[in-house]
Amino acid sequence: MNISGSVALVTGANRGLGLAFSRELVRRGAAKVYGAARNPAAVTEPGVLPVALDITDGDQVERVAAQCADVSLLVNNAGVLRYSTFTSAPDLDAARQEMETNYFGTLRMCRAFAPVLAAAGGGAIVNMLSVTSFFTNPFDASYGASKAAEWSLTNGVRLELHHQGTLVVAVHAGFIDTEMAALTDAPKISPESVAAQVFDAVEAGQVEVLADERSRDIKAKLSRDHELIYPPIQEFWDAAVSGTPRD
Ligand SMILES: NC(=O)c1ccc[n+]([C@@H]2O[C@H](COP(=O)([O-])OP(=O)(O)OC[C@H]3O[C@@H](n4cnc5c(N)ncnc54)[C@H](OP(=O)(O)O)[C@@H]3O)[C@@H](O)[C@H]2O)c1
Repeated sequence: MNISGSVALVTGANRGLGLAFSRELVRRGAAKVYGAARNPAAVTEPGVLPVALDITDGDQVERVAAQCADVSLLVNNAGVLRYSTFTSAPDLDAARQEMETNYFGTLRMCRAFAPVLAAAGGGAIVNMLSVTSFFTNPFDASYGASKAAEWSLTNGVRLELHHQGTLVVAVHAGFIDTEMAALTDAPKISPESVAAQVFDAVEAGQVEVLADERSRDIKAKLSRDHELIYPPIQEFWDAAVSGTPRD
């Protein structure tokens, strides 16, 4: 589909990758860009219309779908990362928040906007996933579970909405240079690069974006994950929990 002339809605548009998505949509000539955020006053990008939206609030999601009934491109970007393990986290709060936002929030948005996109002639959904949709890392284990669930959701929604002509794009990336990845000094891709790749893919009708070398490498290794993906992670984790520095 063409970005130029489309009507887009971006969740989590106030900062980070959501801001980069909004800016790129305006740059590519979208007719209207709704910038959805928990605090709409924080959406200040020129050309972006602020909309109040917490994707964990079902009533609010329904209201926004009714209010923004002209949307043809839905960008499910909002997400949370709580850096929580499965077995040593003090409770399930982080795991629940990640699942409630990343999985159930995105599911709510897809359900609410499916008829809106059908009315627009199909349109497109972009779901912002992660390289951790593909494998588990104890440093962000419960986040990975929520992103794996969101990946499964994305593949299912694509199958379910094929009949109405909706393009459903899965976006995977390793670290992106936003507040979410501020804790690490590992290599990061820019949010602008992710946004450009994503809208190139939407315009080309592609269903998947592997936005950086890390996600391309991990996806290529998936069929041999217990030989190629997990052993180095295990080594790193064992060193971390035993307090032994790695060289
Ligand atoms: N940064 C990375 O390394 C990286 C890598 C791969 C994938 N991702 C994914 O990329 C997406 C964007 O992340 P980011 O890097 O831009 O992170 P970020 O800087 O932490 O921004 C997260 C955005 O999501 C919003 N949000 C969180 N919970 C929400 C809710 N319940 N309802 C509505 N908005 C909510 C935040 O709003 P508030 O300002 O109100 O908190 C903020 O706008 C996420 O889905 C993330 O999982 C990030």
